Amino acid sequence: MQDLSAQACNWRLRVYNDAVPSPRVDLPPVLMQKSKSHSSVRSKLEQAAKKVMKNAHAPYSNFHVGAAILLTNGRVFSGCNVENASYGMTNCAERTAIFSAVAELGPKIEIEAVAVTNDHGVACSPCGACRQVIYEFGPNATIFFQGARGPKQAHITELLPEGFRLK
Ligand code: THU
Repeated sequence: MQDLSAQACNWRLRVYNDAVPSPRVDLPPVLMQKSKSHSSVRSKLEQAAKKVMKNAHAPYSNFHVGAAILLTNGRVFSGCNVENASYGMTNCAERTAIFSAVAELGPKIEIEAVAVTNDHGVACSPCGACRQVIYEFGPNATIFFQGARGPKQAHITELLPEGFRLK
């Protein structure tokens, strides 16, 4: 019994350690080559995200978030977080932006890039639910966000390995 629980402890420790985020900002080679255009895409999307952030309905968290998405057809959509008294019904900024794009253009959109901003200037990457929704419409998307040590960018599959797909 003692052995088993020691094993279980080690297992938990190992998984926890694996889950510690890497401080490195490694970019796949393709993104490295495109770093100049990525920085202009980033600033354009951040500008749109900051603008829409002002419309956030966040009386419960007082944390205003804005997101903007660039589609492969060149269109940009933005969204803010919309909270609810029942908390769980809250919609994040990223999903608001994506759902707006689908509402206007239909489901055949492809997301190329996403930027997220917040009014506290703190680290804020998309939540797990938003990662899955981004993956649905942008399996090759680049995400721009504020990391613990400054601005970061990551491929959606770095943020969401093994994303769920029905087909
Ligand atoms: N939030 C977003 O809108 N996007 C994120 O990436 C992280 C969290 C919102 C949800 C909620 O309204 C508030 O931030 C605090 O969690």
